[in-house]
Amino acid sequence: MVVGSGLRYIELPRRDSLFLTPPSGLMKYKILIFHLIELIASAAIPNTAKKRFPDAIIVGVKKSGTRALLEFLRINPLIKAPGPEVHFFDKNFNKGLEWYREQMPETRIGEVTIEKSPAYFHSKLAPERIKSLNPNTKIIIVVRDPVTRAISDYTQSSSKRKRMGLMPSFETMAVGDCSNWLRANCTTKTRGVNSGWGAIRIGVYHKHMKRWLENFPLTNIHIVDGERLITNPAEEISATEKFLGLTPVAKPEDFGVDPIKKFPCLKSTDGKLHCLGKTKGRHHPEVDPLVLSTLKEFYGPENKKFYQMINQWFDW
Ligand code: A3P
Repeated sequence: MVVGSGLRYIELPRRDSLFLTPPSGLMKYKILIFHLIELIASAAIPNTAKKRFPDAIIVGVKKSGTRALLEFLRINPLIKAPGPEVHFFDKNFNKGLEWYREQMPETRIGEVTIEKSPAYFHSKLAPERIKSLNPNTKIIIVVRDPVTRAISDYTQSSSKRKRMGLMPSFETMAVGDCSNWLRANCTTKTRGVNSGWGAIRIGVYHKHMKRWLENFPLTNIHIVDGERLITNPAEEISATEKFLGLTPVAKPEDFGVDPIKKFPCLKSTDGKLHCLGKTKGRHHPEVDPLVLSTLKEFYGPENKKFYQMINQWFDW
């Protein structure tokens, strides 16, 4: 007989084997112990909810749909996540592991704890820190065309900087003289692009991916296609649920499309749409087609290195 007690299992003697012969003194003692254990097992080892370190982390990539992924995964009642980004393995590491655990929701055995902090992807230290906490952590990475990602990143930064004066255009930042805005050297370009600008640098995925693969096997890493998360969310969410070891519950009927922004939203049974907030699905500036093609050429060879690394191809 096996009694579950969270992570540990206790092997108990079979009940019939205890009663084959009349109980001796020692046997009576054993029976008493056996009944005590049985009582504890049936009543006092409930599957209590408590805060646990995450089983899986959405580590990035920033502006690729990480919030949509997390919110859509919540369709599965077994998936639990903290609301805000935790940023433990980059910004808050000095707060200690107990602080980190405290940020997590309470979960029961069988539920999956997941957090998302998209800056982990391009953090130099996050991969090895996560590995040293738990080398079996499942890593989830949403990626999208790095050109679109860079424009999204720029749109977010410029909306944050409105109060401090307008930022130059995306074109100036990406391929022009950005020296007034960036510490990066804007006179040295890579294939015509300001590759030192964060919005560009984050999209050179293979450079960051290398660190993840030095710390985790590819089998523990799940890549989500950020473009398909928009066009076919149910399929991307189901694939992620499977990666998490869960039976998928996400179905196409769980989603509707925001009539204005055209992004997918969660649809409740009464047909009401629940869309992400106003900071998601922002209007992007029109970008000069010449700059777009310079960026496409810049990213071409970098993307190929990434595809080879993850053994998965995209059409960027
Ligand atoms: P934009 O607001 O620039 O369009 P993240 O959550 O990682 O910051 O990514 C934000 C981006 O996710 C948005 O960038 C948007 O393009 C994309 N996205 C994907 N699915 C979305 C959804 N259902 N609702 C809103 N934005 C979504």
